[in-house]
Amino acid sequence: MKKILVTGGLGYIGSHTCVDLLEKNYEIIIVDNLCNSELDTLNSIYSITKKKPKFFNCDITNYEELFHLFKTNNIDCIIHFAALKSVSDSVQNPKKYFFNNVEGIKILLRCCKKFKVNKFIFSSSCTVYGFPKVLPVNESMPFGEASSPYGETKIRSEEILLKFCKENKSFKNISLRYFNPIGAHNSNLIGESHKGTPSNLVPIITKSCFNKNIKLKVFGNDYNTKDGTAIRDYIHIEDLSKAHIKAYEYIKDSINNYEFFNVGTGIGYSVIEVINTFEEISGKKLNYIFAKRRKGDIEKIYADIKKVNKKMKWKAKFDLKKMLESAWSWELKRNSNKKTLK
Ligand code: NAD
Ligand code: UD1
Repeated sequence: MKKILVTGGLGYIGSHTCVDLLEKNYEIIIVDNLCNSELDTLNSIYSITKKKPKFFNCDITNYEELFHLFKTNNIDCIIHFAALKSVSDSVQNPKKYFFNNVEGIKILLRCCKKFKVNKFIFSSSCTVYGFPKVLPVNESMPFGEASSPYGETKIRSEEILLKFCKENKSFKNISLRYFNPIGAHNSNLIGESHKGTPSNLVPIITKSCFNKNIKLKVFGNDYNTKDGTAIRDYIHIEDLSKAHIKAYEYIKDSINNYEFFNVGTGIGYSVIEVINTFEEISGKKLNYIFAKRRKGDIEKIYADIKKVNKKMKWKAKFDLKKMLESAWSWELKRNSNKKTLK
């Protein structure tokens, strides 16, 4: 049976997608170098699905290792999650980001060409729209100015894929432009777990309830929004992982060989709305302060989701309350031996 190669399959989005693929009885191979994940996630995937996928601890920038993997496995499609994703780290180490994220995709494509693997699903980001002038953002809008080296690697990767599709007509790619994934799997066995301190809003909120050293700062309350705080389109991880199943089913019969879709809920929430909703569902009072705007932050962004609804027949199900309940439940489970601060 042909297999789906999942790069970065032990990471946050990858692990949830692996669970869904296995539950749909697809055969998968996971490649991950564990630079931002733990081997134990493989056991969690097993606990949920009762299936043990093949795993290779391999770096996607290592052509020889990848070559061997492609040679010895019959691969039908690649779902490519493996990338570095910290915006602040990318500002400090832009070269590391370009090498890992951009060279990584080039090496994968070399293998695709060599071994005639012609389906590819790529993890892109709404960051490719830059600072949008019109909302909601739809796929006909051009790339914007990248707000970070990380963002630039996503734009560059999409460009490389477009060029590769033009030159190789039998090769098909779908780029999924994720908005802001949050929450965890309903089993609470997998979820978002960072190596180091998180920089994203929701993990900071949940962690600040356990760790007095994590202080929640709201970056900017002078934006041109309903309450002055920035607006994002948060999407639950289980909705997002299901979009990959839809993409895999769609790519098999798709006519266009290069497609890209927004994957969000289409609804924008402000930072204050997220905080208020979290306080409501958890019964906790968050001691936050207002701080100045974070460099590179976008005022507001949310997705136009008509294209993904219509063509891939995908729609998110979780609302903000359910998403935050899920994130909170994951945090409680991970700290089940500790007390919350207040
Ligand atoms: P993650 O860090 O949890 O997962 C990425 C996985 O890739 C990790 O397990 C890491 O060890 C692995 N990896 C990184 N470089 C590798 C390499 N060279 N070789 C092999 N493995 C490597 O991140 P995530 O949140 O699951 O994100 C997955 C993808 O989605 C990334 O491409 C990211 O840029 C993109 N994305 C994420 C978000 C988000 O908010 N989480 C938003 C938009 C796009
Ligand atoms: C960020 C990245 C984006 C990346 C995504 C996933 C930037 C500019 N964008 O998205 O490219 O794909 O993470 O890694 O970094 N906020 C606070 N206080 C905090 C943290 C966040 O107020 O401590 C606010 C932010 O200003 C933002 C919102 O919360 O308005 C969401 O922030 P975050 O979770 O970091 O996601 P993005 O910035 O949207």
